[in-house]
Amino acid sequence: MDLQLQGRPAAVFGGAGGIGARIATVLAAEGARLTIADRDRQAAEALAARLGGDALACGCDVSVRDEVREVVNRTVERFGGLQIAVQAVGLTLANWLPDITDRDIDVTFNVNMKGSILVAQAAVEPMRAGGYGRLVFIGSGSGMKGSAGMAVYSASKFFLRGLAHAVGLEAGPAGVTANVVCPSDVYPEGDEPAMTWHDPTLVRISCEKENVPDFEALRKRRIARNPARRACTADDVAWLTAFLCSPLAGYINAQTIGVNGGGLPT
Ligand SMILES: NC(=O)c1ccc[n+]([C@@H]2O[C@H](COP(=O)([O-])OP(=O)(O)OC[C@H]3O[C@@H](n4cnc5c(N)ncnc54)[C@H](O)[C@@H]3O)[C@@H](O)[C@H]2O)c1
Repeated sequence: MDLQLQGRPAAVFGGAGGIGARIATVLAAEGARLTIADRDRQAAEALAARLGGDALACGCDVSVRDEVREVVNRTVERFGGLQIAVQAVGLTLANWLPDITDRDIDVTFNVNMKGSILVAQAAVEPMRAGGYGRLVFIGSGSGMKGSAGMAVYSASKFFLRGLAHAVGLEAGPAGVTANVVCPSDVYPEGDEPAMTWHDPTLVRISCEKENVPDFEALRKRRIARNPARRACTADDVAWLTAFLCSPLAGYINAQTIGVNGGGLPT
């Protein structure tokens, strides 16, 4: 199937690692012209070089307004517009309710929530101007059903749904859609770069919750419980995201879509 992404300018925030890198790779393979924006500038440059063509790498912290705007401005300058923006950055600081610190709250709010608003604000402008826009936020199963031990993270992922819904209604008449893609656990595979699961707070709380001794046991237990008997992969997320970026998905707006094999978090 031709997703009709050839030549379309796209920016992936958090595009240098994990799920974001997979999304960037799939969009590039489908012909999109890519900006990879990530706090890890070196990793962004390495991926841009691997993708080849005219892929652009930008160092960017999504919680900083000027840096997000700069990514959008550079994309517009380089590719003549911005039609696709994916916000994949999301921190996963896990803690039981009594132990949640001000830092957990502030950091998560700044990156997961404020960062997503900043991306929406900056990206929608050139999308409106060009009459075509696809905004995709990477949410989480914890944004479809709250996760115990992850109140702050869950709240930040539910937040994305309100944001996407409102943006989709506001910008829809200009040909812009905004949707949230909610994966279940995506575990690091092989030599993949660091992912969410390298966060020790997430591993500790998840193991305590499932009453298992370590990450491997956690992974096995959750896979055995999933109706598909496997975990979500970065590819599962990337292909749905690519479809949502396509003109073929123009009538899918302000939606939250799970990628979870039928399983939801605990
Ligand atoms: N991995 C999972 O199990 C899983 C499950 C559900 C949802 N998610 C969501 O998917 C998204 C990606 O997860 P991942 O596991 O690939 O994450 P990851 O830890 O690999 O991070 C992705 C990228 O974000 C970059 N980044 C971190 N902070 C940043 C900032 N402030 N500004 C710009 N870039 C920043 C990192 O450098 C990295 O390249 C997140 O939103 C996460 O909440 C992940």
